Amino acid sequence: MSSIFVYGPPGSGKSSLGKELANLTGFPLVDIDQEIVSNAGMPISRLMAEQGEQVFRNMESEVIAAECTRAANRPSIVALGGGALLRNENRALVEKTGEILFLEASLPTLIERIGTQDLSRPLVSGAIPEKLAALLADRTTHYESFPIRVRTDDGSTLAELAERAMRLLGFYTIKAMGRPYKVCIQAGALANLPTFLKTLSAGQNIIVVYDTNTRHHFEHTMATVLQAGGFWATSVELPAGEENKNLSAIEKLWNAFIDAGMDRRSLVVAVGGGVITDLVGFAVSTYMRGCRWVAVPTSLLAMVDAAIGGKTGFDLPQGKNLIGSFYPPELVLIDPNLLSTLPQPEYISGMAEVVKHGIIADTGLFDLCSQGLATIQQHQNQIVRRAAQVKIDVIEQDPYEKGFRAALNLGHTVGHAVEIEREFSLKHGEAISIGMVAEATLAEKMGIAPPGLAGQIAKVLAGLGLPVQLPANVNRAKLVSFMGNDKKKAGKVVNFALPAAIGQVRTGVAIEKLEDVL
Ligand SMILES: NC(=O)c1ccc[n+]([C@@H]2O[C@H](COP(=O)([O-])OP(=O)(O)OC[C@H]3O[C@@H](n4cnc5c(N)ncnc54)[C@H](O)[C@@H]3O)[C@@H](O)[C@H]2O)c1
Repeated sequence: MSSIFVYGPPGSGKSSLGKELANLTGFPLVDIDQEIVSNAGMPISRLMAEQGEQVFRNMESEVIAAECTRAANRPSIVALGGGALLRNENRALVEKTGEILFLEASLPTLIERIGTQDLSRPLVSGAIPEKLAALLADRTTHYESFPIRVRTDDGSTLAELAERAMRLLGFYTIKAMGRPYKVCIQAGALANLPTFLKTLSAGQNIIVVYDTNTRHHFEHTMATVLQAGGFWATSVELPAGEENKNLSAIEKLWNAFIDAGMDRRSLVVAVGGGVITDLVGFAVSTYMRGCRWVAVPTSLLAMVDAAIGGKTGFDLPQGKNLIGSFYPPELVLIDPNLLSTLPQPEYISGMAEVVKHGIIADTGLFDLCSQGLATIQQHQNQIVRRAAQVKIDVIEQDPYEKGFRAALNLGHTVGHAVEIEREFSLKHGEAISIGMVAEATLAEKMGIAPPGLAGQIAKVLAGLGLPVQLPANVNRAKLVSFMGNDKKKAGKVVNFALPAAIGQVRTGVAIEKLEDVL
């Protein structure tokens, strides 16, 4: 986890929220203004009065640069002065070092918080209301340019504001399944794995599970990162691919756990796509009646979907994911930088789930998806966070799929049937893409969705290079039969999750005559 720089106009609450964030993360709080005071040996108001604003700004730049250098080894919460990022070089350095959290509040609140005569804030002291209004007007464009924002004047407590801020910064504590677990979504987060492992009180010996491809790409980095943090890893390799998500992979894991002398305190780290996180989660949940694990998803699909939510399992010849458990890891560490080695077809496959999450609950995400792959890759961190956020919101509401979690099955009832009918020659996301369009068409036919929704969805998916139509030679009778075997079958009917609009899904739509679906 990298440093968090708290920024905003005077009176927006940078120091108080900074303290709360420091408590929550265990990071030290650094107050840039206080460092300047201690370096200058005088209050800022006197420094400004005697030596002018430029001298103050120069000292501010020096203190910020020093803190950014320290942050490489010791991340912190940094409370910045209200104009600290006006200089482009300060902003560039801070953006390279960590994340900026912008705090906002209305002018009357800012005035009330500062008081009418605060001489320690030289740029607004004296006639505060007028000076503050002028300062805000002057900095409007600058202040509006920070995307991660929290309002501090909506009546929330500091603890609530801190929790909201952490979520916006990609740190979640999911409390939905008995024992809370953390999800961290941050570019570069892998480097901080040892810090996280220490907070989990992990023993020094770690078992890392890869598949053939992820071992090739990440074993060296993982070993370096773990060794630097004082950990020692034993590694296990499973063959890559859905066709290997089976009982023999689970047996291989159990045997490797026994060979490594694993006990209930040992920690297993799964490094891979959804196949590896599903397999490791299940093997760990059953070994010695439940051990400990951490997920480091490396595919887009696993980052935004499979690794979050605690569902684990493997396939039987009779169907996908027929055996499984609910067993969340203690930490899901999502580092979008790991996607740099993911082959393009896998990336595109993962985009089907991203689009799905946009359809379920984030119209802005859906719009971003409509802008094509180049734009998506430019905004990759934001895309991963927003898509993962939808999954997190859903599982927090309904961890065990008693109701709304079924929304995540959008496109999957038809999609899974297509996957099986094609004997897994299509990627998961490709089949789901076809399934989403087929199910949106069904929603239109049933009057659940307005005319044109299926076309709108198909256009976005096709624009990403995903298939949107059933293969010409598909065996429809087989599809109907596979849909009938679907896990979501309840009695004689199959329950579908159908889109009602972009950002809205209806779950529990019971369909008896599956022939009518296609
Ligand atoms: N548990 C859940 O809630 C849940 C949700 C959705 C999907 N899933 C499961 O997830 C699986 C699909 O996940 P997937 O698409 O990640 O499949 P996958 O794990 O097979 O990964 C796809 C391919 O990409 C490779 N790969 C992964 N990361 C890489 C990287 N960074 N660089 C290079 N190669 C990389 C893998 O080796 C594999 O060949 C399915 O089994 C599905 O059932 C589970």
